[in-house]
Amino acid sequence: AETHDRVAALIAEHRGQKGALLPLLHAVQDALGHVPDDVVPAMASALNLSRAEVHGVLTYYHFFRREPAGRTVVQVCRAEACQACGAEDLLKRAEQVLGCARHDTRADGAVTLEPVYCLGLCASSPAIQIGDRLHARVTPERLDSLLAGVKE
Ligand code: FES
Repeated sequence: AETHDRVAALIAEHRGQKGALLPLLHAVQDALGHVPDDVVPAMASALNLSRAEVHGVLTYYHFFRREPAGRTVVQVCRAEACQACGAEDLLKRAEQVLGCARHDTRADGAVTLEPVYCLGLCASSPAIQIGDRLHARVTPERLDSLLAGVKE
């Protein structure tokens, strides 16, 4: 019930604004850490949208989580500068080392792996973020040792 009260308050703040859906989804994710499926109907009816429309937006933007994140969130930058410095290989390696697919949370809840678009360290690519710590110029070897700490 507490979840629904918080979401109701956020809906009240956003309804009536043009293009309220994305800001509302961001606000819900900020407040709850994810956007649970069972708050979709309330958002849809408040914004005069169908549930399918809200669901469509929610699944289109990978940024939004529909499940709670793992205890540690690992973000691998996939924007241009990092892409040019081997970001895709790093991401594949992270999937292997962590045993967790991108956009996914490992079954034991330890870790969520997310590709992201620019961490602001383009001059020192490739960049990753583990929890709230940024790491620049991440070589495959360095990735392994950084990830060793978040495996459990
Ligand atoms: Fe990766 Fe900006 S492109 S940090």
